[in-house]
Amino acid sequence: MSNTNVQIFDTTLRDGEQVPGCKLNTEQKVIIAEQLDLLGVDIIEAGFPVSSPGDFASVEAVSKIVKNATVCGLTRSVENDIKVAAEALKYAKKPRIHTGIGTSDSHIKFKFRSNREAIIERAVAAVRYAKSFVEDVEFYAEDAGRTDNEFLAKVCEEVIKAGATVLNIPDTTGYCLPQEYGAKIKFLKENVKGIDKAILSCHCHNDLGLATANSIEGAINGARQIECTINGIGERAGNTALEEVVMIMKQHPYLNLDTNINTPMLYDLSQLVSDHMGIYAQPNKAIVGANAFAHSSGIHQDGVIKNRETYEIIDPKDVGVTESAIVLTARSGRAALAYRAKNVGYELTKLQLDVVYKDFLKFADAKKEVLDNDIHTIIESSSIYNELR
Ligand code: KIV
Ligand code: ZN
Repeated sequence: MSNTNVQIFDTTLRDGEQVPGCKLNTEQKVIIAEQLDLLGVDIIEAGFPVSSPGDFASVEAVSKIVKNATVCGLTRSVENDIKVAAEALKYAKKPRIHTGIGTSDSHIKFKFRSNREAIIERAVAAVRYAKSFVEDVEFYAEDAGRTDNEFLAKVCEEVIKAGATVLNIPDTTGYCLPQEYGAKIKFLKENVKGIDKAILSCHCHNDLGLATANSIEGAINGARQIECTINGIGERAGNTALEEVVMIMKQHPYLNLDTNINTPMLYDLSQLVSDHMGIYAQPNKAIVGANAFAHSSGIHQDGVIKNRETYEIIDPKDVGVTESAIVLTARSGRAALAYRAKNVGYELTKLQLDVVYKDFLKFADAKKEVLDNDIHTIIESSSIYNELR
């Protein structure tokens, strides 16, 4: 792994599956995991094995079929969780146990009714126990986003000593601002003894719409793993969207951050996950939404028809979308109408276009979108139709 490489930890099958009503069965998890492996994700978090017999079976089945990625199972800092996760992961070529505990004052006081010292003891014991089963142990400091940095550094130091190979710094509640989250990662990089032995990981939630920005800021400040989900699905407002962080790093090479993701697979994977989970990305969703490469206003359409780059910063083929769409609405101009008419077989002169355009606008004002068969209707009922035959 080069110093610029950011590992992509996909948690679609675990945090993503926590969306109410989006439960996946084992067969579905296996289908998605196979595609994630081909996509080139570095780690697949396949589930939370102790949570149910079904999830145990899914983690086990995913472990059997994944060829390249590390397969990971989530646990709490509880011995039985860890033992069960190790059992579910036993067929994985590269198994990882993901264990952890809440570290913010709020979690320590209200969830655990405990104190900082006792939390560190539990964290260390969990990592040591996980280490007795697998070499690769990731520790999460739940609610790290709201955890005091000095205490967080102490926790990180102790779990590294116990053998943690990855330190997950979750902004569990999606509270942090990007500069705050970036500064937290920088603080840990600079203040945790032994940090060179571990990878810092960003795990950001989207409650304020900042999950992607926070993850990128974390990577800029030294994190080398990002935890994310396809389409940004996940608990509450969701997790960091895999397709967004990957394309940000690709489109901004000066950041010196790269991934192993085969980006032309992104669109199909987004559709696959939507179909299995039964929830679809909103049309304006970055990268994979239905309108991400659709142009509807006349000014934009004229530009895109002349040169795609006038209004597109990503080549749609780079994310697996066949081509940009020129959508015809009452806001479209002559250039778009001529372009779409040509696509369905009518080469219009400037004068013919002037005539048809008037008819088109009347039609478009009455309809949300003008489709190919509507173009035929408009042209066939136009006064210039005979000239085209
Ligand atoms: O958001 C979170 O803190 C989590 C942990 C369990 C890693 O999902
Ligand atoms: Zn989470």
